[in-house]
This record gives sequence, C-alpha cells and structure tokens, in this order.
Amino acid sequence: MKNNEFFRFRRLRQNPVIRKMIQETTISVNNLIYPMFVTFGNNIKNPVSSMPGIYQLSIDKLKEECKTIVDLGIPAVLLFGIPERKDLTGSDAFSDDGIIQQAIRVLKKEYPQLLVITDLCLCEYTSHGHCGLVKDEKILNDESLAIYQKIALAQAKAGTDMIAPSDMMDGRVLAIRDILDRNDFCDIPIMSYSAKYASALYGPFREAAQGAPKFGDRKSHQMDIANSNEAIREIEQDIIEGTDIIMVKPAGFYLDIIYRAKQTFQMPLAAYQVSGEYSMIKAATSMGWLDEEKIIIESLTAIRRAGADLIITYFAPQIAKFL
Ligand code: PBG
Ligand code: ZN
Repeated sequence: MKNNEFFRFRRLRQNPVIRKMIQETTISVNNLIYPMFVTFGNNIKNPVSSMPGIYQLSIDKLKEECKTIVDLGIPAVLLFGIPERKDLTGSDAFSDDGIIQQAIRVLKKEYPQLLVITDLCLCEYTSHGHCGLVKDEKILNDESLAIYQKIALAQAKAGTDMIAPSDMMDGRVLAIRDILDRNDFCDIPIMSYSAKYASALYGPFREAAQGAPKFGDRKSHQMDIANSNEAIREIEQDIIEGTDIIMVKPAGFYLDIIYRAKQTFQMPLAAYQVSGEYSMIKAATSMGWLDEEKIIIESLTAIRRAGADLIITYFAPQIAKFL
C-alpha cells in the first residue's frame, strides 16, 4: 500500500476544536418543542409517575412553568388538555371555555413571543378514550372530521399559533384547513402527525393525558409499525391536503421513516420523541446505567441526523440547559 492511500481520519478527530468545526449535525434550542399537560383546578402540579420530571399542571402553574421555558430560550410548547368532564363527543375540546382554550388565552397574554401549538384530538376528552366519535365500538371517520373542525375553530379563536392534529383520521388536514380558511384564520399553520404509528411507546403519555381507550386500541387509524411505504403515502396525502409541517412519530425507533420522509419531501419535518422514549432513558439514567446528558444529546443528534428539522421532546428544558 502506497503511503498516500493510507488516509488518516484521526487527523480531524484530534481535539475538540477541530471536531466541532467539522460536525455535520447540530442541535439548537431553536428546533425544540416542549409538550405540556394542562389540567383543571388551581395550584396543581401532579407528577406523572412513569415520566419523572413531567407534571400535569393547572393553568396558573402552567403559566409559572412557561416562564422557565421562555427564559431557557425554548421557542414553542405543545399543549395537551385534561378536561374536568369527559363525554361522548369530547365537548370540552371545542368549548370556548375548554381547558385548552383557557390555557392558550393565558399563555398568549403573558408570553406573546412563546409559540403556542395545540394538539388536536379527542382521546383526552371523550369518555371512551377514543380519538374520534364511536358507534357500535367502531371509530367513525367523517363524523369525527366535523368535530375536529369545531376544535380547530375554538383553538383558533382562543389564539393558538399552530394546530397539530394527532388523530390520524383520513381527510382531517383538508377539513381543518378548510374551516380555518373560511373563518379568516388562513395564517394559522398546521403541523400534522402524518406518519403516526400505533406504538407501545405511548404508554406513559396515556397516564399523563389520561386518554387511554376504554376498549379496543388505536390500530384502526394509527399506522402499522411494520410499514414504511405507507408512511410516505400518508405524508404525501397530508401535503396534498395542505399541511405546513409534516411529522413522524415516534422518533427514535423510526429513524428510517424520518430519513425517507426528508429525502422524499422537501418539507419542514418534525419528529416526536414520545413519552416511552423519554421514560426508557429516564429509567436507565436513574439506575446509573447510562450517562444522562450524553444519552439525551445522542438520542436527539440521531433524530436530527436522520433528517428532522424540529424535535418535540420532553427533554427540551434539560437540553436547553446542556447547550
Ligand atoms: C393523542 C396523542 C397521543 C400522543 C400524542 N397525541 C397518544 C396516542 O395516540 O395514544 C403520544 C405522545 C407521547 O407518547 O408522548 N392522539
Ligand atoms: Zn387521540
């Protein structure tokens, strides 16, 4: 072997300065979205047992907590609501006094610069815990779209900055875009959960948001974990219907989907590092089995390297402190 064919990769790895200069992937606080759980009542900060460091917060506490978020430079929060009363149609979700509508008004007044993104689904609001209307134990598609339109309108009127439909019914992006545009809310972007898998990683979230289904599962609307081509078609459909940001969820086990989506569509792409991903990392670090800062940074770097622009993560405040 001639000497000049013996390439030395280690030349550019010899010190932190040079390593940083040639780093291909970076994480910035600008890319982070922090999910939060809003509950009714006052002065409430309920720990979520399966998600150490995460709480259900009443609106006064949410307001307090968001001061920290703003001070850390985190640009956006994603709100999930836990209503006082659940019913068959999830009416709290579209009531002008619903938990989320109240939270939006308080946060936008207090922190105009904080981007308030609102989840749009029914599972936290319905007595049966399903993401849509139910008849004879079947989740109805088109009838649910009409309810989503009411939720979108209520959130828009309350002042949401962005709507994130997580229901996975067919046609929801078009339905939501249509109602927003017809009511002078054409400037509100939609970030749709485009490729959302029926994943076991949502377990801790269902404790946090109290939205577990009372019977059956979500496999009739969320994607089969085994499918990849279908993800591309789901995303394409959302783009056709007018979504502004596409999303892949979960993130860490679905890096191939993130990669394919980014290669296929030149669209802003969000990845949701979900509750189960958070809980797994927290469990291992609390046992001292993994280094917390290193594993968090590594998990986020992988998601960015695969092609995600934005990352929705419960680690957002922790990462902001590391950076
Ligand atoms: C509701 C919704 C879920 C998540 C986000 N929105 C749960 C589900 O679909 O069952 C999961 C988020 C997480 O696990 O962190 N449709
Ligand atoms: Zn749902």
